[in-house]
Amino acid sequence: MRKKFVAGNWKMNTDAARAAELAAQVVAGFVAQPGWAEKVQVALCPPFPYLGIVAQAVKGSPVHLGAQNCHHEASGAYTGEVSPVMLHDTGCHYVILGHSERRHKMGETDAQINLKVKAALQNNLTVILCVGETLTERQEQRTLAVLQSQFHGCCHGLSRDAMAKVVLAYEPVWAIGTGHNATPEQAQEAHAFLRSRVSEEFGPDVAGRTQILYGGSLVPDNAPQLLSQPDVDGGLIGGASLDAARFLKIIEAGAR
Ligand code: 13P
Repeated sequence: MRKKFVAGNWKMNTDAARAAELAAQVVAGFVAQPGWAEKVQVALCPPFPYLGIVAQAVKGSPVHLGAQNCHHEASGAYTGEVSPVMLHDTGCHYVILGHSERRHKMGETDAQINLKVKAALQNNLTVILCVGETLTERQEQRTLAVLQSQFHGCCHGLSRDAMAKVVLAYEPVWAIGTGHNATPEQAQEAHAFLRSRVSEEFGPDVAGRTQILYGGSLVPDNAPQLLSQPDVDGGLIGGASLDAARFLKIIEAGAR
C-alpha cells in the first residue's frame, strides 16, 4: 500500500515572516488531527532563502522540508546556484526537479534534469520529479509520448534502488495555475501510464511502490475525487498551498 503524499510548492512566494507563519500553521493543523500522519506524508517547499526558517518551524514534527531545485554539482564556481549537499545540510528531505516552470521558463532539458536527479539521490534527497505535457501536446494526442520521453530522459541510468527514492509528479502544463485541473480520468490515465513506464524500465516492485502525485489546480474542492483515483498517490500543490486552511483540507482528502 502506497502512502499518500501532499507537498506544497510555494514557488517564488512568501516572505520571511509569512513563511514562518504558514509553516507553523500547517504543522499545528496537521499534528492536531489524530491519524493523519500515519496516512499522509506532508512536505513544504519554500524558496531557498526561507528553507532555514521553515526547517525550524517543522523541526520535531512529521512535516518534511523540501526545496524547489538544485544544481548537479556538490560545490564549486557556479554563481547563484545551490547544491544538493547544501540542501541536505539545511534539513531538506525532498527536492522538486524538472518543474515545468523551470523547463519552459528557464530552458531546463531532460539531460540537465537527469544529472540533477542523480546528484540529489547521491546526496540522500528524495526527488519529486515533475513531468507533464503542454496544451498543444495534449491537443495533438502526444501526451503519453511526451510523458514517456520526459520520464526516460530524466531517469535513465538510475539503479532500481535509486528509482525507488524518486516520487513522480504528473503536472499537465495547461492545468498549472489556470484553474483548469485535469479530470480524475485524465489524471488516472496519465498516472497509470507512468507507472507502466516505471515497471517497464525498473520492474514491477519499484513501480508498485512509486508514489505518483498529481499537480495542476488541485484545490480542496477537487481533491477528494482526484486523490481517490487508484494511481494518484497525492498532490503537488501550488496556489492552494499558500493558505494553510486550504492546504490542510487537501491533506484531509488524502487521509480519507
Ligand atoms: P497550482 O496548484 O497553482 O496549479 O500549481 C501546481 C504546481 O505547479 C505545483 O508544482
